[in-house]
Amino acid sequence: MAQFSITRTTNPTSDAVRNAALADPGFGHYYVDHQVVIDYVGGDGWQDPRIIPMGEWSLHPAAATLHYGQEIFEGLKAYRRDDDSIWLFRPDRNAARFVGSAQRMGMAPLPEDLFLDSVNELVTLEKSWVPVSENEQSLYIRPFMIASEPYLGVREANNYRFAVIATPAGPYYSEPVKLWITPNYTRSAPGGTGTAKCGGNYAASLVATQEAAENGCGQVLWTDGAEHKWVEECGTMNIMFVTADGELVTPSLGTILAGVTRESILSLATMHDLKPVERPISIDEVLDGVDSGQIPEVFACGTAAVVTPIVGFNSPGRGVQQVGDGQPGPKTQEIRKHLVDIQYGRAEDPFGWTK
Ligand code: COI
Repeated sequence: MAQFSITRTTNPTSDAVRNAALADPGFGHYYVDHQVVIDYVGGDGWQDPRIIPMGEWSLHPAAATLHYGQEIFEGLKAYRRDDDSIWLFRPDRNAARFVGSAQRMGMAPLPEDLFLDSVNELVTLEKSWVPVSENEQSLYIRPFMIASEPYLGVREANNYRFAVIATPAGPYYSEPVKLWITPNYTRSAPGGTGTAKCGGNYAASLVATQEAAENGCGQVLWTDGAEHKWVEECGTMNIMFVTADGELVTPSLGTILAGVTRESILSLATMHDLKPVERPISIDEVLDGVDSGQIPEVFACGTAAVVTPIVGFNSPGRGVQQVGDGQPGPKTQEIRKHLVDIQYGRAEDPFGWTK
């Protein structure tokens, strides 16, 4: 267990202000009073794990992250149960993925234990910021790492900063979502950064999300970079299709983000009489299946969004298509409830996911 020094804020949020924030947190509007910071210095490794007051840092204007985008992040949540205990959901999976993202971006990998200790330290100190379970609120935890070395040559940086911040969060999407099948943009390509959780992937998605909004949709359905033929993921989430034959189909890993929620739902599928299937699935198969009823339900999943029903598509070739009756489907709702009940300790946790 790493030893963290703690410098407490001299200006803590009052109970009244925090309670007002927790009553209607939204997403990313409020931040807990402290942050974890750990620096990686050249050959000397990870230095000086510390908790300091939430607030600005100073960064040299030549810091490599500002120029070449060496940056990665994670997202996980802390849940308050009815007995007031606080739990994380599969933080070990985030720690492992963070190592993979660092490797892809040429950054110093953070030992998984240090990732987990950092998250636990911050959540323990800030437990009053974990909302009650009403309306599926939680504390969204954002570990991230940047290249902090001031150097304008293009190469892997020698110095990095890892930090953890946290924000109380309500549901990311309050409404079911329609997806725009963009013919113009792609999220990733073989050999690219699609499997890494790096900021650049999200920056590159913004213009496509604007295009989605112009076409009456809340998010983008990403297709493969070569042919725009195969489904990849949607918005910032993985995507799943319930078939009339009792399968739960989701695109195989390769160029998509290996979502923790995705992996968890695949493990729960058989408990909902669905056979989990990871395979390539084409846009034509999806849109034909939605038309014929072969695909009666579609949903997206991710840490922030949990399980979000997809109720329609819009595409240049086929226009607007509704999924099922345009309402969240029964399997979608069942799976969502099961997952959330495990997270809040209301259902058995058969895989020991909650920590
Ligand atoms: C998450 O679910 O943690 C995400 O990655 C979405 C986030 C970018 C808002």
